[in-house]
Amino acid sequence: MADKPRVFSGIQPTGRKTLGNYSGGFRQYVQTQDAGDAFFCIVDLHSITVEYDPADLRSSTLDLAATLFATGLDAERSTVFCQSHVTAHAEAAWLLSAVASYGQLGRMTQFKEKSDRHDFVSAGLFTYPVLMAGDILLYQTDLVPIGDDQRQHLELARDIAERFNFRYGETFRVPDGQFPSVGGRIMDLQDPTSKMSTTLSSEQGAIYMNDPPDAIRKKFKSAVTDSGREVRYDPAEKPGVSNLLEIMSVATGEPIDALAKRFASAGYGDLKEAVGESVVELLTPIQERFKQLRADERALQHLLAMGAEKARRASEPTLEQMYERMGFAKPEAGRHFGAARPRGL
Ligand code: AMP
Ligand code: TRP
Repeated sequence: MADKPRVFSGIQPTGRKTLGNYSGGFRQYVQTQDAGDAFFCIVDLHSITVEYDPADLRSSTLDLAATLFATGLDAERSTVFCQSHVTAHAEAAWLLSAVASYGQLGRMTQFKEKSDRHDFVSAGLFTYPVLMAGDILLYQTDLVPIGDDQRQHLELARDIAERFNFRYGETFRVPDGQFPSVGGRIMDLQDPTSKMSTTLSSEQGAIYMNDPPDAIRKKFKSAVTDSGREVRYDPAEKPGVSNLLEIMSVATGEPIDALAKRFASAGYGDLKEAVGESVVELLTPIQERFKQLRADERALQHLLAMGAEKARRASEPTLEQMYERMGFAKPEAGRHFGAARPRGL
C-alpha cells in the first residue's frame, strides 16, 4: 500500500442535497482529504438512471461542484471531477458487468425501493451498483467515505473486486467503507423512522443545504418528537429526540453524551430551538461560500477540468490492466483513454 491511503467517494448531482448528505457525505469528504490521496467524483452518469431533466443537469453539476468546495474540499489537496469527463468509468462498468451477478443486483435494497416507486424502471437503475463498483475499483481505492445507506453497494463492489481478482488474476485492491460513528443515517424530521432523503422526504421533513435560516428554524420547531418528556439518546425508543441529538452533534462536533446531559432537564422545545440554531450556524457560512463560488462558472469548470485530467491519469493503468487480463486484443496504435474532449461541461 502507498504511504497514504487512496480515498474515493461519489455523489449524485441531481436532487437537492440535504443535511443527511452533509453528514454522511460532505463532512466525511473533508475529514478524509487530509488522511489520504483523495478523489471525489460528481457521478452524473448515475443521475440518468431515474427520471431527470436534461436541461437541469449541467447547472446541478456546477451547483454540486460549488457545494463540494464550499463545504471545505481544497482543489490542491483533493481531486474533484465529473464522472462523465473520464470515459474509463463507463468502460469499467461494462467490463465489470461480466462479473456482477444478476441475482445479487436484484437483491439491492435501493433497487427494490426505487423500482417499486417508478412505472418505468430503467436497465441503468438495475446496473447502477456496477457503475459504482467501477468508480471505486478504477482508483485502487483503500477507503470509501459514505453514509449507511451505501453499505450494501460497497459490499457488492468488494465482491466484484474479489470475483474479478479470482477469475482474471489479482487486479483490484478490495476497498473498505468509512462510515461516520455519529450521523451515518440522519432521519426525516417528520418521520424519524425513515431516512432524510432528497426523493422521499417531504419539504418539512428534510433540511436542504440551501434552506434559509428561518426555514431551518421552523422545520426544527415542527420536528416530530416522541412521547414522554425526557431528553435521552435511545434511537429505538426515542427516534425523534435521538435524531435531534445526533444532528446537533454533527453540527457542533460535541459528543452526543454531553449534549444529552446538557438537555436532560430541558424540554423538547428548548432542544429543538438549540438544534435549529446549531444547524443555522453550520450552514450559513457554507451558503455564503457557495454563492461566491457558484458565481464564477469558468473557475468551477477550470477546477473540474484539472480534476478530470488527474482522474484520467490515475484510472488509466487499472483500466488498461482490466482489458489485458480479460484477454482483449490490444489496438495496434494503443488505446486512447478519454482524451480531453472539446466540449463544454
Ligand atoms: P447521494 O446524494 O445519494 O449521491 O448521496 C451522497 C452521500 O450522502 C452518500 O454517501 C450517502 O450515503 C449520504 N447520505 C444520503 N442521505 C443520508 C442520510 N440521511 N444520512 C447520512 N448520510 C446520507
Ligand atoms: N451510489 C452513491 C449514492 O447514491 C453515489 C456513488 C456513485 C458513490 N459512485 C460512488 C459513492 C463511488 C461512493 C463511491 O450515494
